[in-house]
Amino acid sequence: MTKARLFRLSVVVGSIFMILLIIVYWDNVGTAHFYLHTTFSRSHSLGVLPTAAQDDDQEALSDVDEFLEKLLSSGLRQNGPFNRKTEQPPLQASSKPGLGNLEENVRGYDWSTHDSRVSLDRDKLQDERRRTLKEFCANSSFTFPTKERLFEDIPNYELNHLIVDDRHGIIYCYVPKVACTNWKRVMIVLSESLLDQGAPYTDPLDIPREHVHNTSTHLTFNKFWRRYGKFSRHLMKIKLKKYTKFLFVRDPFVRLISAFRSKFELENEEFYRRFAIPMLKLYSNHTNVPTSVSEAFEAGLRVSFPDFIHYLLDPRTEKMAPFNEHWRQVYRLCHPCQIDYDFVGKLETLDEDAAHLLQLLNVDKLLHFPPSYRNRTASSWEEDWFAKIPLAWRQQLYKLYEPDFVLFGYPKPEHLLKD
Ligand SMILES: *[C@@H]1O[C@H](CO)[C@@H](O)[C@H](O)[C@H]1NC(C)=O
Ligand SMILES: *[C@@H]1O[C@H](CO)[C@@H](O)[C@H](O)[C@H]1NC(C)=O
Ligand SMILES: *[C@@H]1O[C@H](CO)[C@@H](O)[C@H](O)[C@H]1NC(C)=O
Ligand SMILES: *[C@@H]1O[C@H](CO)[C@@H](O)[C@H](O)[C@H]1NC(C)=O
Repeated sequence: MTKARLFRLSVVVGSIFMILLIIVYWDNVGTAHFYLHTTFSRSHSLGVLPTAAQDDDQEALSDVDEFLEKLLSSGLRQNGPFNRKTEQPPLQASSKPGLGNLEENVRGYDWSTHDSRVSLDRDKLQDERRRTLKEFCANSSFTFPTKERLFEDIPNYELNHLIVDDRHGIIYCYVPKVACTNWKRVMIVLSESLLDQGAPYTDPLDIPREHVHNTSTHLTFNKFWRRYGKFSRHLMKIKLKKYTKFLFVRDPFVRLISAFRSKFELENEEFYRRFAIPMLKLYSNHTNVPTSVSEAFEAGLRVSFPDFIHYLLDPRTEKMAPFNEHWRQVYRLCHPCQIDYDFVGKLETLDEDAAHLLQLLNVDKLLHFPPSYRNRTASSWEEDWFAKIPLAWRQQLYKLYEPDFVLFGYPKPEHLLKD
């Protein structure tokens, strides 16, 4: 008699516990999902993505079932974002224009008008960029280090560039030298992660620069372990599935010039000590190098662009430490074959892409993307900058950054790689 009662009691307690567990987790991801659902179904109804039938199939999967399945199947690799890619048949492969074509479309397009054709073209452009990415991730004859790695096997410290906004369900992978200061500002405003005298910032430009780049301002994936322990990977995967993920990229060689200009042409104490001193000693044969950047600049002692390229190509560099984030390849910062990005923006079309993205995220009424007044490194300078770099080095450098060129649809800079 009492045994039966005890059994019944334990069943009831067990059920309550399960229900509580579901409620707690549902709360964590549920709201963001509904938000996203409305955003993207809206764009579908505009006839933007001609794949309604496939999407219906996906939506038919009950979210509760899917969620429970995820919750209960911890450790199962099949649930990674990798698999999600294969669930979706590639979008109309027949109408696929070549890469060169895509670039022309971007350059030749007049963005000044704002009719529905513009938004249609922008959506097509996104489809193109995402398709290029998926094609090369799936192409087994195109390989690079870490390409075949599963999301589960990416160490936590390599997830430190993924900034999460739980309020709107957005994940941004920041790439230094690609408007990342302004996108971080946008993420701070959206996620209300920084307060100004008790109230969240509402204008991205009000946020002081030193706060923008302070890692403690942002919730990034690498911090999940401390917060959620062994559930952290699981939670990341759920968020990766439900949230809108974006990144901004740039021509890899132009990004290197930009990194060099901001870290070695301007007086930067930290970069002088960490990188310029070793470079001067190793490649310019200096023995007595001043310890501070101002002294060095006064003595006319500066790292040259060829020194910087030499440093990147030197096999000893990576042996000491992974590339600094300002010149680390995007594929190593953002894991584009492991994370199924919804939006790939480019610095070359920053203003249009920013407006498009904020619209897609349904936050264009909330804020505007800050205009950039800085002296941006232009692609047309590339030839001048690389003139002093030996041909063999340029070719090695291309190999080093080839995945970024290919995955993000930047044409191979043939004019720099041939005599
Ligand atoms: C796969 O990649 C290789 C090497 O980059 C390329 O030659 C080939 O055309 C690609 N195949 C497809 C189907 O894109
Ligand atoms: C970053 O912000 C935290 C918290 O506001 C502060 O304690 C820390 O000193 C800041 N770090 C830097 C480098 O400014
Ligand atoms: C570097 O300095 C050493 C000793 O001062 C000298 O023997 C050597 O030739 C120099 N190398 C170059 C490339 O200038
Ligand atoms: C921008 O930078 C380049 C090279 O660093 C310089 O030649 C040019 O004068 C600068 N332009 C402005 C407007 O500051």
